[in-house]
This record gives sequence, structure tokens and C-alpha cells, in this order.
Amino acid sequence: MSPSLTVRRIAADQGAVFRELRTASLREAPYAFGATLEDALSADAASFDAVAAEHAVSLSISTFILYTEGHPAGLVEAHFEEAPERRAFVCELWVAPAVRHLRGGELLVDTASGWLANEGATEIYAWVADSNRNAMRFYEALGFGPTGEHRRVARAPEQVESLLVRHVPSTSPALDQ
Ligand SMILES: CC(C)(COP(=O)(O)OP(=O)(O)OC[C@H]1O[C@@H](n2cnc3c(N)ncnc32)[C@H](O)[C@@H]1OP(=O)(O)O)[C@@H](O)C(=O)NCCC(=O)NCCS
Repeated sequence: MSPSLTVRRIAADQGAVFRELRTASLREAPYAFGATLEDALSADAASFDAVAAEHAVSLSISTFILYTEGHPAGLVEAHFEEAPERRAFVCELWVAPAVRHLRGGELLVDTASGWLANEGATEIYAWVADSNRNAMRFYEALGFGPTGEHRRVARAPEQVESLLVRHVPSTSPALDQ
């Protein structure tokens, strides 16, 4: 039987949970993120507490946590860029290997997208390394497509990442008029 998966926005007192998930993701999938495990391990606990406190209440940045049977098992960040376009992004997505292929990633991205849409986003963007074929196929399966924008991966300049986008479906008939 599949474990039941749920997603909730991070709470202000979940700095330790956030630190645990960030370090687990950087240890297990270092190729997928801009930061390194060393960065996370050398940061003090207070910095994770500060991020959790901000992401719990901010209108421009948040983190959502995946739970399996009540245990933290994944995360995603959602934020609006500070540039004038104020594009909406999902990033830092990770699902623990033990619960992959159970739609936890989809639940995380859809929940984060819903929050961004609620804050005004009409398109959701994600940077994905071209070499991360699993993530590329995952985002394509969720309806993300290429924007044509590419850049070098800051951590590994010999690699390229591509910007993907998914339009937020209009759910309100009033918005269609
Ligand atoms: C990418 C990742 C988040 C997917 O999480 P997940 O919970 O396993 O994904 P889901 O179960 O929600 O998958 C939804 C769909 O995406 C596609 N998909 C997911 N993983 C895939 C893979 N490894 N290969 C091909 N397609 C995949 C499938 O179409 C899947 O639907 P299906 O199971 O009905 O076929 C997870 O593999 C992960 O954490 N990877 C390491 C970190 C990473 O690469 N993060 C992304 C950084 S850009």
C-alpha cells in the first residue's frame, strides 16, 4: 500500500526540520542544487530558524514540506524574483528516494504553484540542469515546457541549465471573460 502523502507550508518553528531536509537533499542529490552540502553543514542552526520563520509568513517566498505518514520526506521552495518582471519560481525540489514515484514531487510542485498563483502568478518557472534527465522528464510530465532561455550552472560552469515554464490554469470563469 502506498504511504499517504501530504504537503504543508513550513511553520516558523521548523528550522531543524528544514535543516534536516536541506542537508539530506544536498547529500543525496548534489547535482541538482546550486548550494553544496558543505554550505549547509557550515551554516549555523540560527540561519535555518531564520529561513523557516520568514518562509512561514512571507508573501514573496515560501517553503513547502512533504510528509509521508507524518514524517518529513521532501521539500520545495516557491518565490517571486526581485527583478521588475517578478516572475514566480519553484526550486530546491527534492523527494526522499524511499517515496519517489508516488506523486510526492507532483504534490509539492502543485501546492507551491497554487500558492504562487494565489499571490498573483500566471506562469510558474523552474531552472533545470540539462544533465538532470529525471528532473527534466518530471517537469515535462507536469506540463512544463521550454522557454528557450539557458544559462551556465554557477556551481559547475561546464554545465547548462534550461528555464522551463508552466501556465497557471484559469480556474475562475470570471477570469476567462
Ligand atoms: C525529480 C523528483 C523531485 C521527482 O519526485 P517524485 O515524487 O518521484 O515524482 P512524482 O512521483 O510526482 O512523478 C510525477 C511524474 O513525473 C515523471 N517522473 C518522475 N520521476 C521520473 C523519472 N525518474 N524518470 C522519468 N520520469 C519521471 C513521471 O511521469 C511521473 O508520473 P508517473 O509516476 O505516473 O509516471 C525526484 O526524483 C527527486 O527528488 N530527484 C532528485 C532531486 C532533483 O533532481 N530535484 C529537481 C531539481 S531541478
